[in-house]
Amino acid sequence: MKDFKGKIAFITGGASGAGLGQAKVFAKAGMKVAIADVRRDALHSAVSEIVDYAGCKVGDVLPLCFDLTDRIAYAAAADTVEKVFGGPPHLLIQTAGVNSFGPVEASTYDDYDWVVGVCFGHVVNGLVTFIPRILRTYGGRDGVAKEEFHIVTTSSLGALEAGPDTGPYSAAKAAVNNLMYSFAETMPFYGGHASVLCPWNINSNIGNAELYRPEKLRNTGYNVNENTIAMLRTVHAIGIDPLKLAAILKEGIENDRVLIMPFETYEEGLAMLRSELQKIENYTLPEKERLALSTSELSDPTRISEFYEVKAGVEPFGRARADLDYIAPSRKPDGAAK
Ligand code: NAI
Repeated sequence: MKDFKGKIAFITGGASGAGLGQAKVFAKAGMKVAIADVRRDALHSAVSEIVDYAGCKVGDVLPLCFDLTDRIAYAAAADTVEKVFGGPPHLLIQTAGVNSFGPVEASTYDDYDWVVGVCFGHVVNGLVTFIPRILRTYGGRDGVAKEEFHIVTTSSLGALEAGPDTGPYSAAKAAVNNLMYSFAETMPFYGGHASVLCPWNINSNIGNAELYRPEKLRNTGYNVNENTIAMLRTVHAIGIDPLKLAAILKEGIENDRVLIMPFETYEEGLAMLRSELQKIENYTLPEKERLALSTSELSDPTRISEFYEVKAGVEPFGRARADLDYIAPSRKPDGAAK
């Protein structure tokens, strides 16, 4: 997509962090922007921030408050966008996400249902809701679109790297990547494109996600408390600026990149990707050979955990709930560092 002016964007998680940065950048590029988020207050302040940043009219920003895992609410929101903006989105950006970290062996159904439900489930909901509407309205049958359109999901570098304490999140993001590659292979039949954005660390509010975890999904197997939340905030505070990330995304969309890696240089992103692929290749080796190889910082499967541990210092990262009797002591809050 090269021409954004007057077109429609639908951005999930648009009230905060990466999604808010994307809403600002694409509103400034002249798009009408619908932002979908579960937090009403955050949506409210996001609208004024977007209008101030982009210099657009209030009517060009449409806040939609609903839980993206609710399929009926999602269809109603899609109807609202068509009614208010006159059509389905030309640019669908699926950025909402939550995280929670702990030993993969301590994960409960609630941990999976919440993290996978938002990070992967909401993407499924967005695609099933919008793809027929987008293809009917903008798709061509001969590889030439009636109007430009693009679909993108914000995944994570965690899609490529499964740490011992990031199981549901990494699994959801890996699923997102594969699904978006499928769409990247098929959208050109209709003249459109699809991408997946894989950031590493973003200066956002995702550290607070546990604070609004739905009541019905609160039975976590992880050690979650005020200190772990504060620790995550500290880590994310040094992440990439959402506006910078959104500018990189825009360039990726303009150039129809499938995998968008937001690093300082293209080579840096490529080096990161190669080290992740190397790690997967190493999994094919007998353990003895593999452990001998896994000494470099980038191919160490505990790298994410160590990063958080080092940056945070105070509260151990990714530990299990203290009362789980089947979990090794080193994987609990008072256990010695791994
Ligand atoms: P954020 O917390 O600042 O923004 C996420 C937004 O999603 C929030 O406004 C939240 O209310 C919304 N949301 C969560 N669950 C929802 C639901 N069920 N229904 C509707 N809205 C919901 O976090 P951030 O970091 O901007 O996250 C954006 C994306 O970036 C996520 O997919 C995340 O996994 C991904 N990411 C984040 C990284 C980071 O370091 N913060 C690194 C790599 C990827």
